[in-house]
Amino acid sequence: MNARRVVALARVGVAFSFAVRDGDVPRRASSSRPGVVIAPGVARALGDAAGVVAGVVAADMRRREPARRASRSAVESSRATAAIATPRRRAVGMLATTTTTTTTRAIARRDARARAEARGGEATTVRSRARDAASARRRGRGARGIARARDRREEARGRVVASAGTDGDAPAARDPKDYKIATKLAHAKTSVTDPYGASAPPLYQTATFAQPSATENGPYDYTRSGNPTRTQLEEQMANLECADRAFAFSSGMSALMCVTRLVNAGERIVTGDDIYGGTSRLLAQVVPKVGIEVVNVDMNDHDAVRAAIQGGNTTMVMMESPTNPRLQVIDIKAICDMAHEKGALVCVDNSIMCPTFQAPLALGADISMTSATKFIAGHSDVTGGLLACNGEELGKRIYFHQNAEGLHLGPFDCWLALRGLKTMQLRMERQQENAMKLTAWLESHPRVNKVNYPGLKANVGHELQSKQASGAGSIFSFTTGDVEFSKIVVEETKLHKITVSFGGTTSLISLPCFMSHASIPAEVRAARGLPDDLVRISCGIEDADDLLADLQYAFAVAEKRVGKA
Ligand SMILES: Cc1ncc(COP(=O)(O)O)c(C=O)c1O
Repeated sequence: MNARRVVALARVGVAFSFAVRDGDVPRRASSSRPGVVIAPGVARALGDAAGVVAGVVAADMRRREPARRASRSAVESSRATAAIATPRRRAVGMLATTTTTTTTRAIARRDARARAEARGGEATTVRSRARDAASARRRGRGARGIARARDRREEARGRVVASAGTDGDAPAARDPKDYKIATKLAHAKTSVTDPYGASAPPLYQTATFAQPSATENGPYDYTRSGNPTRTQLEEQMANLECADRAFAFSSGMSALMCVTRLVNAGERIVTGDDIYGGTSRLLAQVVPKVGIEVVNVDMNDHDAVRAAIQGGNTTMVMMESPTNPRLQVIDIKAICDMAHEKGALVCVDNSIMCPTFQAPLALGADISMTSATKFIAGHSDVTGGLLACNGEELGKRIYFHQNAEGLHLGPFDCWLALRGLKTMQLRMERQQENAMKLTAWLESHPRVNKVNYPGLKANVGHELQSKQASGAGSIFSFTTGDVEFSKIVVEETKLHKITVSFGGTTSLISLPCFMSHASIPAEVRAARGLPDDLVRISCGIEDADDLLADLQYAFAVAEKRVGKA
Protein backbone atom coordinates (compact mmCIF):
# COMPACT_ATOMS: atom_id res chain seq x y z
CA MET A 1 0.00 0.00 0.00
CA ASN A 2 1.51 3.31 -0.86
CA ALA A 3 1.76 6.30 1.37
CA ARG A 4 -0.65 8.49 -0.58
CA ARG A 5 -3.31 5.84 -0.20
CA VAL A 6 -2.74 5.70 3.53
CA VAL A 7 -3.10 9.46 3.73
CA ALA A 8 -6.28 9.34 1.71
CA LEU A 9 -7.72 6.69 3.97
CA ALA A 10 -6.69 8.54 7.06
CA ARG A 11 -8.63 11.59 5.95
CA VAL A 12 -11.66 10.22 7.61
CA GLY A 13 -11.69 13.05 10.13
CA VAL A 14 -10.36 16.59 9.98
CA ALA A 15 -7.07 15.58 11.58
CA PHE A 16 -4.96 12.73 10.38
CA SER A 17 -1.59 11.14 10.85
CA PHE A 18 0.32 9.78 7.94
CA ALA A 19 2.80 7.09 7.11
CA VAL A 20 5.35 7.12 4.35
CA ARG A 21 7.72 4.57 2.96
CA ASP A 22 11.23 5.82 2.59
CA GLY A 23 11.09 5.43 -1.17
CA ASP A 24 7.93 7.50 -1.42
CA VAL A 25 9.21 10.65 0.21
CA PRO A 26 11.22 13.39 -1.40
CA ARG A 27 14.95 13.19 -0.78
CA ARG A 28 14.78 16.37 1.25
CA ALA A 29 12.62 14.72 3.86
CA SER A 30 14.34 11.40 3.73
CA SER A 31 17.94 12.58 3.87
CA SER A 32 18.49 11.54 7.45
CA ARG A 33 15.34 9.57 8.31
CA PRO A 34 12.15 8.48 6.69
CA GLY A 35 10.25 11.45 8.13
CA VAL A 36 7.75 9.05 9.56
CA VAL A 37 4.97 9.52 11.99
CA ILE A 38 2.76 6.49 12.24
CA ALA A 39 0.12 6.66 14.85
CA PRO A 40 -0.90 3.28 16.26
CA GLY A 41 -4.53 4.38 16.32
CA VAL A 42 -4.40 5.15 12.64
CA ALA A 43 -2.71 1.87 11.88
CA ARG A 44 -5.46 0.05 13.78
CA ALA A 45 -8.22 2.00 12.11
CA LEU A 46 -6.79 1.52 8.68
CA GLY A 47 -6.36 -2.17 9.18
CA ASP A 48 -3.65 -4.53 8.11
CA ALA A 49 -2.53 -2.68 5.03
CA ALA A 50 -1.48 0.35 7.00
CA GLY A 51 -0.03 -1.93 9.63
CA VAL A 52 2.26 -3.30 6.95
CA VAL A 53 3.39 0.22 6.14
CA ALA A 54 3.96 0.83 9.83
CA GLY A 55 6.03 -2.32 9.97
CA VAL A 56 8.12 -1.25 7.01
CA VAL A 57 8.63 2.13 8.56
CA ALA A 58 9.50 0.74 11.97
CA ALA A 59 12.08 -1.59 10.42
CA ASP A 60 13.45 1.32 8.46
CA MET A 61 13.71 3.38 11.61
CA ARG A 62 15.66 0.66 13.34
CA ARG A 63 18.10 0.50 10.44
CA ARG A 64 18.84 4.19 10.61
CA GLU A 65 21.09 4.72 13.58
CA PRO A 66 21.65 8.52 13.21
CA ALA A 67 17.93 9.19 13.31
CA ARG A 68 17.11 6.61 15.99
CA ARG A 69 16.53 8.98 18.88
CA ALA A 70 14.50 11.48 16.94
CA SER A 71 12.38 8.79 15.37
CA ARG A 72 11.75 7.20 18.73
CA SER A 73 10.58 10.45 20.18
CA ALA A 74 8.28 10.84 17.19
CA VAL A 75 6.81 7.40 17.77
CA GLU A 76 6.48 8.10 21.48
CA SER A 77 4.73 11.35 20.73
CA SER A 78 2.36 9.62 18.40
CA ARG A 79 1.65 7.03 21.09
CA ALA A 80 0.90 9.79 23.52
CA THR A 81 -1.35 11.33 20.93
CA ALA A 82 -3.12 8.04 20.39
CA ALA A 83 -3.59 7.73 24.13
CA ILE A 84 -5.41 11.02 24.34
CA ALA A 85 -7.55 10.34 21.31
CA THR A 86 -11.19 9.99 22.21
CA PRO A 87 -12.89 6.65 21.52
CA ARG A 88 -14.83 8.25 18.68
CA ARG A 89 -11.74 9.69 17.15
CA ARG A 90 -10.05 6.31 17.44
CA ALA A 91 -13.00 4.64 15.75
CA VAL A 92 -12.61 6.84 12.68
CA GLY A 93 -8.83 6.83 12.77
CA MET A 94 -8.75 10.52 13.56
CA LEU A 95 -6.12 11.69 15.97
CA ALA A 96 -5.12 14.93 17.51
CA THR A 97 -1.80 15.48 15.81
CA THR A 98 -0.45 18.48 17.63
CA THR A 99 2.15 16.53 19.54
CA THR A 100 3.39 14.62 16.55
CA THR A 101 3.38 17.71 14.37
CA THR A 102 5.40 19.60 16.93
CA THR A 103 7.89 16.78 17.20
CA THR A 104 8.14 16.47 13.46
CA ARG A 105 8.72 20.20 13.17
CA ALA A 106 11.43 20.02 15.82
CA ILE A 107 13.11 17.25 13.86
CA ALA A 108 12.77 19.23 10.63
CA ARG A 109 14.30 22.27 12.33
CA ARG A 110 17.20 20.26 13.65
CA ASP A 111 17.80 18.84 10.19
CA ALA A 112 17.67 22.24 8.58
CA ARG A 113 20.26 23.40 11.10
CA ALA A 114 22.50 20.43 10.39
CA ARG A 115 22.19 20.99 6.64
CA ALA A 116 22.91 24.67 7.01
CA GLU A 117 25.94 24.00 9.19
CA ALA A 118 27.22 21.52 6.65
CA ARG A 119 26.91 24.22 4.00
CA GLY A 120 28.35 26.92 6.25
CA GLY A 121 25.01 28.72 6.05
CA GLU A 122 22.79 30.22 8.65
CA ALA A 123 20.07 28.20 10.36
CA THR A 124 16.93 29.34 12.04
CA THR A 125 15.98 28.10 15.45
CA VAL A 126 13.52 29.25 18.00
CA ARG A 127 16.40 30.19 20.24
CA SER A 128 18.10 32.27 17.57
CA ARG A 129 14.78 34.01 16.99
CA ALA A 130 14.56 34.95 20.64
CA ARG A 131 18.26 35.91 20.61
CA ASP A 132 17.76 38.21 17.63
CA ALA A 133 14.78 39.86 19.25
CA ALA A 134 16.61 40.28 22.54
CA SER A 135 19.69 41.72 20.92
CA ALA A 136 17.53 43.98 18.77
CA ARG A 137 15.90 45.21 21.94
CA ARG A 138 19.25 45.69 23.67
CA ARG A 139 20.39 47.75 20.76
CA GLY A 140 17.21 49.75 21.10
CA ARG A 141 16.00 48.95 17.60
CA GLY A 142 12.43 48.54 18.72
CA ALA A 143 9.74 46.62 16.88
CA ARG A 144 10.86 47.58 13.39
CA GLY A 145 14.44 46.55 14.18
CA ILE A 146 13.12 43.24 15.37
CA ALA A 147 11.04 42.92 12.22
CA ARG A 148 14.12 43.52 10.08
CA ALA A 149 16.05 40.92 12.06
CA ARG A 150 13.19 38.50 11.54
CA ASP A 151 13.08 39.22 7.82
CA ARG A 152 16.78 38.46 7.57
CA ARG A 153 16.20 35.19 9.41
CA GLU A 154 13.29 34.30 7.14
CA GLU A 155 15.44 35.04 4.12
CA ALA A 156 18.16 32.83 5.54
CA ARG A 157 15.62 30.12 6.23
CA GLY A 158 14.31 30.48 2.69
CA ARG A 159 17.86 29.96 1.42
CA VAL A 160 18.33 26.85 3.54
CA VAL A 161 15.03 25.30 2.49
CA ALA A 162 15.45 26.29 -1.13
CA SER A 163 18.92 24.80 -1.32
CA ALA A 164 17.66 21.67 0.39
CA GLY A 165 14.95 21.50 -2.24
CA THR A 166 17.45 21.35 -5.05
CA ASP A 167 18.62 17.94 -3.83
CA GLY A 168 15.82 16.18 -5.61
CA ASP A 169 12.65 17.10 -7.39
CA ALA A 170 10.96 18.17 -4.13
CA PRO A 171 8.95 21.39 -4.36
CA ALA A 172 10.63 24.46 -2.85
CA ALA A 173 9.09 25.98 0.28
CA ARG A 174 6.57 28.66 -0.61
CA ASP A 175 7.58 32.21 0.20
CA PRO A 176 5.25 33.44 3.00
CA LYS A 177 4.71 36.60 0.96
CA ASP A 178 3.00 34.43 -1.66
CA TYR A 179 0.57 32.78 0.74
CA LYS A 180 -3.08 33.25 -0.14
CA ILE A 181 -5.13 35.45 2.14
CA ALA A 182 -6.75 32.53 4.01
CA THR A 183 -3.32 31.20 4.96
CA LYS A 184 -2.08 34.64 5.91
CA LEU A 185 -5.12 35.04 8.16
CA ALA A 186 -4.56 31.72 9.89
CA HIS A 187 -0.81 32.26 10.30
CA ALA A 188 -0.45 35.79 11.60
CA LYS A 189 2.87 37.39 10.78
CA THR A 190 4.51 39.21 13.65
CA SER A 191 7.87 40.24 15.01
CA VAL A 192 6.59 40.06 18.59
CA THR A 193 8.37 37.18 20.25
CA ASP A 194 6.78 35.04 22.91
CA PRO A 195 9.00 32.85 25.09
CA TYR A 196 6.17 30.37 25.72
CA GLY A 197 5.07 29.82 22.15
CA ALA A 198 1.48 30.74 23.00
CA SER A 199 -0.96 29.76 20.26
CA ALA A 200 -3.01 32.90 20.81
CA PRO A 201 -1.39 36.34 20.58
CA PRO A 202 -0.05 37.57 23.92
CA LEU A 203 -2.15 40.41 25.34
CA TYR A 204 -0.13 43.24 26.87
CA GLN A 205 -2.87 45.02 28.78
CA THR A 206 -0.60 47.72 30.12
CA ALA A 207 -0.27 51.46 29.72
CA THR A 208 3.44 51.69 30.52
CA PHE A 209 6.65 49.67 30.17
CA ALA A 210 9.72 49.83 32.41
CA GLN A 211 12.75 51.27 30.67
CA PRO A 212 16.24 49.70 30.94
CA SER A 213 17.56 52.94 32.45
CA ALA A 214 16.65 56.60 32.79
CA THR A 215 18.39 57.44 29.53
CA GLU A 216 17.63 54.34 27.46
CA ASN A 217 14.32 53.42 25.85
CA GLY A 218 13.19 49.85 25.46
CA PRO A 219 11.20 48.88 22.37
CA TYR A 220 8.06 50.09 24.12
CA ASP A 221 7.60 52.74 26.78
CA TYR A 222 3.98 53.94 26.66
CA THR A 223 1.00 52.25 25.03
CA ARG A 224 -0.17 55.37 23.20
CA SER A 225 3.17 55.29 21.38
CA GLY A 226 3.25 51.54 20.91
CA ASN A 227 2.19 48.25 22.45
CA PRO A 228 3.22 44.71 21.45
CA THR A 229 -0.39 43.55 21.03
CA ARG A 230 -1.03 46.51 18.76
CA THR A 231 2.20 45.75 16.90
CA GLN A 232 0.86 42.27 16.22
CA LEU A 233 -2.36 43.62 14.75
CA GLU A 234 -0.61 46.34 12.76
CA GLU A 235 1.97 43.94 11.33
CA GLN A 236 -0.69 41.39 10.46
CA MET A 237 -2.75 44.05 8.71
CA ALA A 238 0.33 45.26 6.80
CA ASN A 239 0.91 41.65 5.81
CA LEU A 240 -2.68 41.23 4.57
CA GLU A 241 -2.65 44.52 2.67
CA CYS A 242 0.86 43.87 1.25
CA ALA A 243 1.73 47.24 2.80
CA ASP A 244 4.89 48.55 4.39
CA ARG A 245 3.07 49.59 7.53
CA ALA A 246 -0.35 49.56 9.10
CA PHE A 247 -1.78 51.46 12.06
CA ALA A 248 -4.62 50.61 14.43
CA PHE A 249 -7.01 53.34 15.58
CA SER A 250 -9.75 53.56 18.16
CA SER A 251 -12.43 53.56 15.43
CA GLY A 252 -12.84 53.79 11.70
CA MET A 253 -13.66 57.45 12.19
CA SER A 254 -10.42 58.18 14.06
CA ALA A 255 -8.52 56.46 11.24
CA LEU A 256 -10.31 58.70 8.72
CA MET A 257 -9.68 61.71 10.97
CA CYS A 258 -5.99 60.88 10.83
CA VAL A 259 -6.16 60.81 7.02
CA THR A 260 -7.60 64.32 7.00
CA ARG A 261 -4.66 65.42 9.19
CA LEU A 262 -2.43 64.83 6.19
CA VAL A 263 -4.19 67.75 4.50
CA ASN A 264 -3.32 71.35 5.34
CA ALA A 265 -5.40 74.52 5.51
CA GLY A 266 -5.95 75.91 2.02
CA GLU A 267 -5.88 72.46 0.42
CA ARG A 268 -8.76 70.46 -1.06
CA ILE A 269 -10.16 67.02 -0.36
CA VAL A 270 -12.20 65.47 -3.18
CA THR A 271 -14.64 62.80 -2.13
CA GLY A 272 -17.71 60.93 -3.37
CA ASP A 273 -21.38 61.77 -3.08
CA ASP A 274 -22.37 58.36 -1.77
CA ILE A 275 -20.32 57.83 1.36
CA TYR A 276 -20.86 56.62 4.92
CA GLY A 277 -22.84 59.16 7.00
CA GLY A 278 -20.07 59.53 9.61
CA THR A 279 -17.48 60.25 6.92
CA SER A 280 -19.85 62.73 5.37
CA ARG A 281 -20.28 64.47 8.76
CA LEU A 282 -16.51 64.56 9.35
CA LEU A 283 -15.87 66.08 5.94
CA ALA A 284 -18.81 68.49 6.02
CA GLN A 285 -18.77 69.67 9.61
CA VAL A 286 -15.30 69.10 11.13
CA VAL A 287 -12.65 69.34 8.44
CA PRO A 288 -13.77 72.67 6.89
CA LYS A 289 -13.31 74.32 10.30
CA VAL A 290 -9.53 74.16 9.86
CA GLY A 291 -9.66 75.78 6.43
CA ILE A 292 -9.74 72.64 4.28
CA GLU A 293 -12.04 72.67 1.27
CA VAL A 294 -14.15 69.57 0.63
CA VAL A 295 -15.73 68.83 -2.75
CA ASN A 296 -18.24 65.99 -3.20
CA VAL A 297 -18.63 64.50 -6.67
CA ASP A 298 -20.22 61.50 -8.29
CA MET A 299 -17.17 59.26 -8.46
CA ASN A 300 -18.56 57.44 -11.48
CA ASP A 301 -18.60 60.69 -13.44
CA HIS A 302 -14.92 60.76 -14.33
CA ASP A 303 -15.08 64.18 -16.02
CA ALA A 304 -16.53 65.63 -12.82
CA VAL A 305 -13.87 63.90 -10.72
CA ARG A 306 -11.07 65.19 -12.94
CA ALA A 307 -12.48 68.71 -12.84
CA ALA A 308 -12.79 68.59 -9.04
CA ILE A 309 -9.23 67.33 -8.62
CA GLN A 310 -7.71 69.76 -11.10
CA GLY A 311 -9.91 72.70 -10.14
CA GLY A 312 -8.37 73.36 -6.74
CA ASN A 313 -5.38 72.68 -4.54
CA THR A 314 -6.30 69.01 -4.20
CA THR A 315 -3.96 66.97 -2.02
CA MET A 316 -6.27 64.15 -0.99
CA VAL A 317 -8.98 62.02 -2.60
CA MET A 318 -11.08 59.99 -0.18
CA MET A 319 -13.28 57.32 -1.70
CA GLU A 320 -15.25 54.20 -0.95
CA SER A 321 -15.83 51.24 -3.25
CA PRO A 322 -18.37 49.79 -3.09
CA THR A 323 -20.02 52.82 -1.56
CA ASN A 324 -22.15 52.85 1.55
CA PRO A 325 -25.14 52.57 1.29
CA ARG A 326 -25.82 52.35 -2.43
CA LEU A 327 -23.04 49.87 -3.19
CA GLN A 328 -21.83 51.78 -6.22
CA VAL A 329 -18.62 50.40 -7.65
CA ILE A 330 -15.98 53.06 -8.30
CA ASP A 331 -13.01 52.51 -10.60
CA ILE A 332 -10.24 52.71 -8.00
CA LYS A 333 -7.37 52.59 -10.47
CA ALA A 334 -8.85 55.29 -12.72
CA ILE A 335 -9.40 57.64 -9.75
CA CYS A 336 -5.89 56.96 -8.44
CA ASP A 337 -4.39 57.82 -11.83
CA MET A 338 -6.32 61.12 -11.91
CA ALA A 339 -5.26 62.00 -8.35
CA HIS A 340 -1.63 61.11 -8.92
CA GLU A 341 -1.50 63.34 -12.01
CA LYS A 342 -2.18 66.18 -9.61
CA GLY A 343 0.21 64.82 -6.96
CA ALA A 344 -2.67 64.06 -4.57
CA LEU A 345 -2.87 61.07 -2.27
CA VAL A 346 -5.76 58.59 -2.45
CA CYS A 347 -7.36 56.93 0.55
CA VAL A 348 -9.77 54.07 -0.21
CA ASP A 349 -12.26 53.08 2.48
CA ASN A 350 -12.14 49.29 2.08
CA SER A 351 -14.45 48.49 5.01
CA ILE A 352 -17.03 46.63 2.91
CA MET A 353 -14.48 44.49 1.06
CA CYS A 354 -11.55 44.13 3.50
CA PRO A 355 -8.31 42.54 2.25
CA THR A 356 -10.29 39.33 1.72
CA PHE A 357 -11.88 40.67 -1.45
CA GLN A 358 -10.04 43.83 -2.47
CA ALA A 359 -6.49 45.21 -2.34
CA PRO A 360 -6.67 49.01 -2.77
CA LEU A 361 -2.89 49.51 -2.56
CA ALA A 362 -2.37 47.11 -5.45
CA LEU A 363 -4.90 49.16 -7.44
CA GLY A 364 -2.85 52.31 -6.87
CA ALA A 365 -4.22 53.76 -3.62
CA ASP A 366 -1.78 55.34 -1.18
CA ILE A 367 -3.77 54.48 1.92
CA SER A 368 -6.20 51.64 2.52
CA MET A 369 -8.63 52.28 5.36
CA THR A 370 -10.75 49.60 7.02
CA SER A 371 -13.20 49.96 9.87
CA ALA A 372 -12.12 47.09 12.13
CA THR A 373 -15.54 47.36 13.78
CA LYS A 374 -17.01 45.47 10.84
CA PHE A 375 -15.62 42.28 9.29
CA ILE A 376 -12.13 42.47 10.81
CA ALA A 377 -13.22 41.97 14.42
CA GLY A 378 -16.38 40.46 12.99
CA HIS A 379 -18.35 39.84 16.17
CA SER A 380 -19.78 43.30 16.91
CA ASP A 381 -17.63 43.58 20.02
CA VAL A 382 -14.95 46.10 19.00
CA THR A 383 -14.80 49.56 17.50
CA GLY A 384 -11.55 50.06 15.64
CA GLY A 385 -10.03 51.35 12.44
CA LEU A 386 -6.96 50.47 10.40
CA LEU A 387 -4.82 52.36 7.93
CA ALA A 388 -2.30 50.59 5.70
CA CYS A 389 0.18 52.40 3.48
CA ASN A 390 3.42 52.10 1.57
CA GLY A 391 6.42 54.37 1.83
CA GLU A 392 8.44 55.43 4.83
CA GLU A 393 7.53 59.09 4.66
CA LEU A 394 3.77 58.52 4.58
CA GLY A 395 4.05 55.92 7.36
CA LYS A 396 5.93 58.41 9.53
CA ARG A 397 3.31 61.09 8.98
CA ILE A 398 0.46 58.75 9.92
CA TYR A 399 2.30 57.44 12.98
CA PHE A 400 3.01 60.99 14.11
CA HIS A 401 -0.71 61.80 14.26
CA GLN A 402 -1.70 58.42 15.72
CA ASN A 403 0.69 59.06 18.59
CA ALA A 404 0.41 62.84 18.92
CA GLU A 405 -3.37 62.80 19.03
CA GLY A 406 -3.83 59.52 20.94
CA LEU A 407 -5.91 57.93 18.20
CA HIS A 408 -4.63 54.40 18.82
CA LEU A 409 -6.62 51.22 19.49
CA GLY A 410 -6.30 49.77 23.01
CA PRO A 411 -4.52 46.44 23.59
CA PHE A 412 -7.58 44.33 24.37
CA ASP A 413 -9.44 45.60 21.31
CA CYS A 414 -6.34 44.83 19.23
CA TRP A 415 -6.39 41.33 20.69
CA LEU A 416 -10.06 40.87 19.82
CA ALA A 417 -9.42 42.15 16.31
CA LEU A 418 -6.53 39.69 15.95
CA ARG A 419 -8.81 36.87 17.02
CA GLY A 420 -11.52 38.00 14.61
CA LEU A 421 -9.07 38.17 11.72
CA LYS A 422 -8.32 34.47 11.91
CA THR A 423 -11.80 33.53 10.70
CA MET A 424 -12.45 36.55 8.50
CA GLN A 425 -12.21 34.71 5.19
CA LEU A 426 -14.62 31.97 6.27
CA ARG A 427 -17.10 34.46 7.62
CA MET A 428 -16.96 36.73 4.63
CA GLU A 429 -17.40 33.90 2.15
CA ARG A 430 -20.39 32.52 4.03
CA GLN A 431 -21.90 35.99 4.40
CA GLN A 432 -21.41 36.57 0.68
CA GLU A 433 -23.18 33.32 -0.16
CA ASN A 434 -26.11 34.44 1.95
CA ALA A 435 -26.17 37.83 0.22
CA MET A 436 -26.21 36.15 -3.20
CA LYS A 437 -29.22 34.09 -2.21
CA LEU A 438 -31.21 36.98 -0.72
CA THR A 439 -30.49 39.39 -3.57
CA ALA A 440 -31.47 36.77 -6.15
CA TRP A 441 -34.88 36.55 -4.48
CA LEU A 442 -35.26 40.33 -4.04
CA GLU A 443 -34.29 40.96 -7.66
CA SER A 444 -37.35 39.12 -8.90
CA HIS A 445 -39.80 40.45 -6.29
CA PRO A 446 -42.48 42.72 -7.79
CA ARG A 447 -42.43 45.02 -4.74
CA VAL A 448 -38.69 45.74 -5.12
CA ASN A 449 -37.74 48.60 -7.40
CA LYS A 450 -33.98 48.26 -7.35
CA VAL A 451 -31.41 46.00 -5.72
CA ASN A 452 -27.96 47.51 -5.18
CA TYR A 453 -25.48 44.64 -5.08
CA PRO A 454 -22.47 44.27 -7.38
CA GLY A 455 -22.70 40.50 -7.13
CA LEU A 456 -25.76 40.56 -9.39
CA LYS A 457 -25.01 40.27 -13.10
CA ALA A 458 -27.62 42.94 -13.84
CA ASN A 459 -25.88 45.48 -11.58
CA VAL A 460 -24.08 48.28 -13.45
CA GLY A 461 -20.99 47.82 -11.32
CA HIS A 462 -20.82 44.03 -11.71
CA GLU A 463 -18.17 43.94 -14.42
CA LEU A 464 -15.90 46.50 -12.76
CA GLN A 465 -16.31 44.77 -9.40
CA SER A 466 -15.27 41.45 -10.95
CA LYS A 467 -12.21 43.18 -12.37
CA GLN A 468 -10.97 44.99 -9.28
CA ALA A 469 -12.15 42.69 -6.47
CA SER A 470 -12.42 38.97 -5.91
CA GLY A 471 -15.89 39.10 -4.35
CA ALA A 472 -18.97 41.24 -4.03
CA GLY A 473 -19.25 41.06 -0.25
CA SER A 474 -22.35 40.68 1.85
CA ILE A 475 -23.83 44.18 2.07
CA PHE A 476 -26.65 45.17 -0.23
CA SER A 477 -29.49 47.65 -0.32
CA PHE A 478 -32.83 47.88 -2.10
CA THR A 479 -35.74 50.24 -2.57
CA THR A 480 -39.44 49.46 -2.49
CA GLY A 481 -40.78 52.84 -3.59
CA ASP A 482 -42.66 53.18 -0.30
CA VAL A 483 -41.07 54.29 2.99
CA GLU A 484 -43.85 52.67 5.02
CA PHE A 485 -43.42 49.35 3.22
CA SER A 486 -39.63 49.44 3.79
CA LYS A 487 -40.14 50.33 7.45
CA ILE A 488 -42.44 47.34 8.00
CA VAL A 489 -39.96 45.00 6.30
CA VAL A 490 -37.16 46.27 8.55
CA GLU A 491 -39.25 45.98 11.68
CA GLU A 492 -40.89 42.62 10.97
CA THR A 493 -37.75 40.59 10.34
CA LYS A 494 -36.80 38.44 13.30
CA LEU A 495 -33.30 37.24 12.45
CA HIS A 496 -32.18 40.53 10.88
CA LYS A 497 -31.53 42.87 13.80
CA ILE A 498 -32.33 46.56 13.33
CA THR A 499 -28.83 47.88 13.84
CA VAL A 500 -26.45 50.40 12.33
CA SER A 501 -23.09 49.02 11.25
CA PHE A 502 -22.39 45.82 9.28
CA GLY A 503 -19.99 42.93 9.06
CA GLY A 504 -20.99 41.03 12.22
CA THR A 505 -21.92 37.36 12.45
CA THR A 506 -25.59 38.31 12.90
CA SER A 507 -27.60 39.67 9.98
CA LEU A 508 -28.41 43.36 10.33
CA ILE A 509 -31.08 45.44 8.65
CA SER A 510 -31.50 49.20 8.59
CA LEU A 511 -33.10 52.22 7.01
CA PRO A 512 -29.90 54.25 6.38
CA CYS A 513 -31.64 57.62 5.98
CA PHE A 514 -33.04 57.29 9.49
CA MET A 515 -30.03 55.56 11.02
CA SER A 516 -26.40 55.47 9.79
CA HIS A 517 -26.87 58.35 7.32
CA ALA A 518 -29.28 60.48 9.35
CA SER A 519 -26.55 63.06 10.02
CA ILE A 520 -26.62 64.03 6.33
CA PRO A 521 -29.25 66.78 5.92
CA ALA A 522 -32.42 65.55 4.16
CA GLU A 523 -32.00 67.95 1.24
CA VAL A 524 -28.39 66.83 0.72
CA ARG A 525 -29.50 63.20 0.82
CA ALA A 526 -32.20 63.96 -1.73
CA ALA A 527 -29.75 65.82 -3.99
CA ARG A 528 -27.35 62.87 -3.82
CA GLY A 529 -30.12 60.42 -4.72
CA LEU A 530 -30.28 58.70 -1.36
CA PRO A 531 -33.93 57.69 -0.97
CA ASP A 532 -35.71 57.32 2.38
CA ASP A 533 -37.18 53.93 1.39
CA LEU A 534 -33.69 52.44 0.97
CA VAL A 535 -33.22 49.30 3.09
CA ARG A 536 -29.69 48.07 3.77
CA ILE A 537 -28.90 44.53 4.83
CA SER A 538 -25.65 43.11 6.13
CA CYS A 539 -25.80 39.33 5.91
CA GLY A 540 -24.54 37.31 8.83
CA ILE A 541 -23.40 33.72 8.95
CA GLU A 542 -26.82 32.19 9.62
CA ASP A 543 -28.37 29.58 7.37
CA ALA A 544 -29.38 31.19 4.07
CA ASP A 545 -32.78 29.47 3.98
CA ASP A 546 -33.65 30.82 7.42
CA LEU A 547 -32.63 34.33 6.38
CA LEU A 548 -34.67 34.08 3.20
CA ALA A 549 -37.70 32.82 5.09
CA ASP A 550 -37.29 35.70 7.54
CA LEU A 551 -37.28 38.25 4.72
CA GLN A 552 -40.18 36.56 2.94
CA TYR A 553 -42.21 36.70 6.15
CA ALA A 554 -41.47 40.43 6.61
CA PHE A 555 -42.46 41.13 3.00
CA ALA A 556 -45.68 39.20 3.46
CA VAL A 557 -46.56 41.29 6.54
CA ALA A 558 -45.76 44.52 4.68
CA GLU A 559 -47.90 43.46 1.71
CA LYS A 560 -50.78 42.65 4.00
CA ARG A 561 -50.60 46.07 5.67
CA VAL A 562 -49.65 48.30 2.76
CA GLY A 563 -50.82 46.26 -0.21
CA LYS A 564 -49.16 44.42 -3.04
CA ALA A 565 -47.32 46.19 -5.85
C1 LIG B 1 -17.89 52.58 5.05
C2 LIG B 1 -17.59 52.99 6.47
N1 LIG B 1 -16.44 53.59 6.73
C3 LIG B 1 -16.13 53.99 7.99
C4 LIG B 1 -16.97 53.77 9.03
C5 LIG B 1 -16.60 54.24 10.39
O1 LIG B 1 -16.13 53.18 11.15
P1 LIG B 1 -16.33 53.14 12.74
O2 LIG B 1 -17.78 52.97 13.02
O3 LIG B 1 -15.48 51.99 13.14
O4 LIG B 1 -15.83 54.41 13.29
C6 LIG B 1 -18.20 53.14 8.80
C7 LIG B 1 -19.13 52.88 9.91
O5 LIG B 1 -20.22 52.39 9.74
C8 LIG B 1 -18.51 52.74 7.48
O6 LIG B 1 -19.68 52.18 7.19
